[in-house]
Formats: sequence, C-alpha cells, structure tokens
Amino acid sequence: MAKILVTGGTGYIGSHTAVELHNAGYEVVIIDNLSNSNIKILSQLHAITGKWFDFHEIDLQDDRAVQEFAENHTDIDGIIHFAASKAVGESVEQPLKYYKNNFYGLINLLTSFNRKINFVFSSSCTVYGQPETLPVTEAAPVQKAESPYGNTKQIAEEILAETASVTPALNIIALRYFNPVGAHETALIGELPNGIPANLVPFITQSAIGKRGPITVYGDDYNTPDGSAIRDYIHVVDLAKAHVAAIKKLEGGNPNGNYDVFNIGTGKGSSVLEIIAAFEKVNGEKLEYKIGPRRAGDIVQIYGDVQKSNSELGWKASLDINEMMRSAWEWEKYIKANPF
Ligand code: WQD
Repeated sequence: MAKILVTGGTGYIGSHTAVELHNAGYEVVIIDNLSNSNIKILSQLHAITGKWFDFHEIDLQDDRAVQEFAENHTDIDGIIHFAASKAVGESVEQPLKYYKNNFYGLINLLTSFNRKINFVFSSSCTVYGQPETLPVTEAAPVQKAESPYGNTKQIAEEILAETASVTPALNIIALRYFNPVGAHETALIGELPNGIPANLVPFITQSAIGKRGPITVYGDDYNTPDGSAIRDYIHVVDLAKAHVAAIKKLEGGNPNGNYDVFNIGTGKGSSVLEIIAAFEKVNGEKLEYKIGPRRAGDIVQIYGDVQKSNSELGWKASLDINEMMRSAWEWEKYIKANPF
C-alpha cells in the first residue's frame, strides 16, 4: 500500500484529503504543528475512517526535525504539502511570518526528501490576479500578487519548477485551487477559522448560527450581473479527491515533464449575493446582510477553465453549490453542539 505524507493534515483541506486518500487505499501519515488546527481532528478522522492516522507534531520550519522525520520514513512514496500560513489579510500585516513559514517549510521538505518522491503542492488561483480572459486557463499569465500570501504561492511554484528541472527524481504537480467551501457529509470535519472569518462562507455560517452579526457584502457595484463579486466555489471533498487524482497521475509518471500545474475548480462562477441566496434556500435560514464598501485587494471575478484537470487528471467536480451550503451549515451546527 503506497504511503502518503500529508503536511497540514489536521487542517481544513488536509483533513478532507486524508479521508479521501484512505478511501482510495493509501496509508496516510500526517505532520502538523497545530498552529491553525486542532488535535481533536485526529479522533474525528478516526470516527470517519476507523483509522488512527500516524501523526507527528512537527513545525516544518524546524529543519532538523524534518530531516530526522525523513530519515525515519524512507517508505513514504508521496507528499501532499498543505502546511502553510494562508490568511490573505494577516499576510499583509505580517509578511515576514508568511515568507518565513511558507518558504522554510517547503525548502526543508524538498531538501530532506531529496530522493525519488511524488509531490503535490497546494497552490491557488490567487496567482492569476484578475485574469484578462475568463474562464482562466493554466496558460494564463501569473500577475503581480495582491498580498504576501499570494506572492508566497507564486514564488513557491517557481521554487518547485526550478528544483524539478534539475532533480529528475522529484515529480511534482501544483494544484491551483479556486475557493474551497463546505464540509464532509458526516459533518465531523470542516473549516475551523481562527477568530473572525475573513472568508465568505464561514462568515455566513457563523452569522446564521448567531456567532457573528450581519454579513457585509463587500461591494455591489462591480461590473457583474448583480453587482457583487464572482468566484469559483468548489466543495472541499471534490478538492480533496483532486489530490488523490494528482497522486495517481504522478504514480504513472508525468508526461509533461516532472512539473505540471492544474486548475482545480468547478468552471462555474457564483456571485456573493447568489451564495447568500443559495444558503438561505437550501437551509431554510434567513440571513441578515448589508452592502458595504469593496474590500481592498479583491478582484472582480474569476472562475477556472478545468478542461486540463478533467482530461489529464481524470478528475471533475461533482458537488454543487447546494451541497456546499448544506454541508457548511451542518458542520457549523455540529461544532456549536460539540465545541473542540
Ligand atoms: C470571496 C468573495 C469577497 C467575506 C481568498 C484567497 C484564496 C483562498 C480563498 C486560500 C469576495 C466576498 C467575503 C465577507 C464578502 N484562500 N466577501 N463578505 O478572497 O476570493 O479568496 O480565500 O487559499 O487564495 O485569496 O475568498 O471567501 O475571502 O471572498 O462579501 O465577509 O466574498 O469580497 O468577493 P477570496 P473570500
């Protein structure tokens, strides 16, 4: 059974990916420093899969700890690397924290696992900025990042591409996520934002459950059908399955050389007001919201061209906005009744 290391595996996308790897027959090892997640996720993963995943509390910035882990785990066939700081707003206030954490972690992993390894990297559609053409394809130009967070994703992709070009044993796929939302169908794992959620859907669910006040729609004067900004929201379980597809692809070798990039989205755009309406309709909950000013750094609209991941990864999103909103709400109700 192939063994896959999931860094950041107690986090939102990492935990859902651990489940899908297990379901696909992989052995899962998790590294996490628990800086933005909760150790209780391990027991939640056991409740879902019946398996206690091998867990190591390691900060990837600790090069000696990462080196020792790699020396003690020579049977790891692949790595899916999620562990990084990911809050756009925080990255503007604390750029050095983001550059240090996101680059030291990646570089320590690459130098410690300096052998034949399949490597899937968590990248983001943020690298595109506001694309000239929509839907945006992987060939679209990377544009100047709007935040240090986005910049760490762009530079990390360059680090990976340049390292791959001189390291044939390294086989890499970078997945450019659009907007991950929703939760596992069991409602036992989901998004656990630290503090006031910056992202739309966790703010919606916390507002609906009474933990936050009314939602502020950041601008309704954009050049879009209803004036609010458009994004490509993707169910976190579909996103998790894309990582399994990427690992399988790498196991078969990488026809496009040993570094490749894929958009992971639905190919469909939804506006903020459409998301609010979908949440209300599928959950029968009335949301309170108000229109506020645009948020600095926001782009108007983006949604992905996903033909490449559909055809070359053999992966396609299957869960719709209604299941995204339903599962997000079920998780919010679960975590209120069962606080970690
Ligand atoms: C979505 C839309 C907001 C909150 C960022 C990162 C991206 C990824 C996902 C990590 C926007 C609007 C939001 C609110 C609102 N992160 N909004 N009221 O900014 O598209 O993407 O998070 O990988 O890389 O860039 O996601 O959920 O913050 O915003 O109106 O209270 O909702 O203006 O139009 P975003 P988001």
